[in-house]
Amino acid sequence: MRSGSTEYVLVSPLDQLSSHSRFFLNLRSAEGEYNALILFRLSANSVRDNAADEDVQPERIDKQQIYAMEATCPHLGADMSHADIEECDTGLVAVCPWHRYDFDLRTGASETGLKACTYAVDVRHDESGHETVWVETPENGTNWRLVELRPVSEEFADPPPPPDLTRLNVTGESCQSQVAEEDSVAPKEGTPTTLMQWAVLILNTPSPKLKVERTRHAVHLFRTGQLKSIGHRSTSAPRPPDIPVREEAFIRNTVDPGKVGKRKNQAAMLHALANIEQWAIDLAWDIMARYGPEHPDLPPAFFSDFARMALDESKHFSLLASRLAALSPTTPYGSLPVHASLWESARVTSNSLRARLAIIHLVHEARGLDVNPGTIEKFRRAGDSDSVDVLNIVHQDEVTHVTTGHRWFTWICAQQGVDPVKTFREEVKRCWRGDVKGPFNFADREKAGMTRNFYEDLKGEMPSDWNKQSQEKIMGA
Ligand code: FES
Repeated sequence: MRSGSTEYVLVSPLDQLSSHSRFFLNLRSAEGEYNALILFRLSANSVRDNAADEDVQPERIDKQQIYAMEATCPHLGADMSHADIEECDTGLVAVCPWHRYDFDLRTGASETGLKACTYAVDVRHDESGHETVWVETPENGTNWRLVELRPVSEEFADPPPPPDLTRLNVTGESCQSQVAEEDSVAPKEGTPTTLMQWAVLILNTPSPKLKVERTRHAVHLFRTGQLKSIGHRSTSAPRPPDIPVREEAFIRNTVDPGKVGKRKNQAAMLHALANIEQWAIDLAWDIMARYGPEHPDLPPAFFSDFARMALDESKHFSLLASRLAALSPTTPYGSLPVHASLWESARVTSNSLRARLAIIHLVHEARGLDVNPGTIEKFRRAGDSDSVDVLNIVHQDEVTHVTTGHRWFTWICAQQGVDPVKTFREEVKRCWRGDVKGPFNFADREKAGMTRNFYEDLKGEMPSDWNKQSQEKIMGA
């Protein structure tokens, strides 16, 4: 929407921003450009409504104290979501967690001479008189739309859960694996000093519980500036394992996908979904560790996006494993057969970042958008509202994961001077076997940037014996 010479995009009703003080915004233009911002909501006043019943109203937001700034630091690209906000002579500044450069929240100016992009925030009344928040859009595109709005938080119950969800054990204690005492979250010897080192450590961590804890820890260190180096340009960046390390019992339980059987009951479905999420944690770390060193031009925003994805997948795994434990204590995570089809696709694409983004994020994850609503409906019909709440969180996050896949797939296509739609279809033909199946969730795919011309009438032509060899390796045959 254009106001004067400036374009604004609608972000949210004002009152819905009261849950958190920072929000991550992702915008996409009609030309396919992405722009990530952080919305800072700095203070709030409690006010008393003048209504006759004198009920105390929810905390009201101070409209003058909302700011929007680019999500990565213009110096070396630190994630600004955890920037300190400080007051100085000239006004309020966001202080970058990596090297402490400060940027004026209104102008983006810094004493160092660098300038961050900031965006005007406007609060307007909609047709029914409700206040809504609008943010000025970047200049390098038109018709920007908001494709992601989420609170900045490392809490696993994020967005704020309905009351029933708060009793879930989100630390994954239901997992059967026992974490040896010496396996501390940060190893006492050889503690990682770069994001790449954390990624490889996590890929080599067999216990799902410890994998989740290390993911939370590493992402926290990275966001808060306690880990200042990504390390992908270092000649000594560690190599990820071909296959993430798994516990013995897990390997014994890994079977051909065709032998997992139809997921008939809720426990089996939750177990299967938790297994997918465990692989998904590894996929998020693997894409950083495997392709970072091969692509030194990858900007820090790539690593911020996939670190966020790793954290999401950890959250999903924990929530699902906890639901499974609550619903069926006799079949905790790890006790039922699992398959490794996701990692087969990871192996097929291990030589190409472009193929990895296409197959894992724009075929597998996009398929998740198609099937999730039906799965949620099955749990709803069974009266399991706790699982419905968990699955709704998973689904909303996964729309943003496909968006991330689309963002970086179009980025690499632009770097290589190729057309994204044509290239996606070529990658699918090369690295996928059989039809790209519908029925499709067109609406959520479109939200994530996947227009129909990407995937309709598309069939993979990969030979069938490739999968068999790959599966045998994963199953340790
Ligand atoms: S000051 Fe932000 S990355 Fe250096």
